[in-house]
Amino acid sequence: MQYRAIKGFKDILPHQVGTWNRVESEAKRVFGLFGYKEIRIPVIENAELFARGIGQDTDIVSKEMYTFQDRRGNFVAMRPEATASILRAFIEHKLYEGYSVQKLFTIGPMFRYERPQKGRRRQFHQIDVEIIGDPGPRSDSELIFMIMHFFSSIGLSDLALQVNSLGCPGCRGPFRVELKGYLENCVSQLCPDCQTRMETNPLRVFDCKVGTCNQVIKDAPSMVDFLCDDCTWHFDSLMAYLKELDVDFAVNSHLMRGLDYYTRTTFEVQTQELGAQNAVAGGGRYDNLMKEFGGPDSPAIGFAIGEERVVELLEKHTAQGEEGPDVFVAALGKEAEDKAFIWLQELRKAGLRCEMEYRPLGLKAQMRHADRLGARKVLIIGEDELSKGKGIVRDMVTKEQIELLLDSVVEELIRLTTIKQ
Ligand code: HAM
Repeated sequence: MQYRAIKGFKDILPHQVGTWNRVESEAKRVFGLFGYKEIRIPVIENAELFARGIGQDTDIVSKEMYTFQDRRGNFVAMRPEATASILRAFIEHKLYEGYSVQKLFTIGPMFRYERPQKGRRRQFHQIDVEIIGDPGPRSDSELIFMIMHFFSSIGLSDLALQVNSLGCPGCRGPFRVELKGYLENCVSQLCPDCQTRMETNPLRVFDCKVGTCNQVIKDAPSMVDFLCDDCTWHFDSLMAYLKELDVDFAVNSHLMRGLDYYTRTTFEVQTQELGAQNAVAGGGRYDNLMKEFGGPDSPAIGFAIGEERVVELLEKHTAQGEEGPDVFVAALGKEAEDKAFIWLQELRKAGLRCEMEYRPLGLKAQMRHADRLGARKVLIIGEDELSKGKGIVRDMVTKEQIELLLDSVVEELIRLTTIKQ
């Protein structure tokens, strides 16, 4: 029997990991500039946390959650997102004490039982960012500025930003009434799920993937037309800051996002290049969730980046090339191999990436191996070189060869590989 990974779960292979690491370390660098601190949260939580936070009627909770009973019969869920967990941790550890604003990020796997397809997996990874304690709109624009800066700093400048405002409970009430009235007039075109959603949570009709529902939604009323004065001021100020910060955006008044906790600002960063799953990141403000979870009255906003989608874009755009060894030692004969083996460890201790061939191959085959690994320099030593006390160093880019004294081989190789090319 040959085992395979479960459907929707994928291995990230050694040749791909370099890009993942680059994305994550750049995220940490950029977020650090803006004062964000990392937090690590569990992969499993009480299922109730997500049902309450994300909303019982959302697809994420009602259809996609990995929920199961543990051995004591408690309902637990593998996290479908990080926001609810971060708020739970924030309240549990009283992270609000002594700080007016907390800026947090986390990176890790999330789980949603969706239909696997290109850009959509059952285990996927998010880089999640939250700023807790400030009502905005400056935080909103700073957060959006930061995410766009992050994308351009990893080489993705060709992304579209859409923003919207979902208002506050005060202005959302009249909007829901209007929307429900509109949907009732088109009820025959709605799928059975949306006919139920229309009654329980009409905003969720915007998330439906069924074609006829999408048609209905196209002409649906817009939330922005229902914003109260405070929400209008908030949204206008956000847009004014974004313009001043030179961040391009478009208003999409139908951008509802698939989670119930949002208030006011929502946004999504999209690409044209990945087909149907075009959102590389999404987020928004959730001013009432902290109270809902029994915490202090702290407004908050955040976003999550879908790492798989970002990595896929980067792989399309940039010739990633894994970082090869600084030095490959091609040794010929037992004595040279033994020496090479010891030097290799010393060179690694000194901070150089090194490789050698462990099988007794000829020079040609070893050079081919060095080339495949992308080595910058190859040190060639055989019986002749050992007796003369001089090895040959070949630069794999310029093809130049020089001699090097084997007595000081480690120092010499360090010097040669640290010279700027
Ligand atoms: P979300 O829109 O559900 O938001 O997910 C954010 C991003 O995660 C999406 O834009 C997408 O790139 C990626 N993503 C979602 N599902 C999948 C999947 N099945 N396969 C691959 N990638 C996926 C949230 O999760 C919110 N918690 C974001 C947030 C943080 N809002 C406020 N703070």
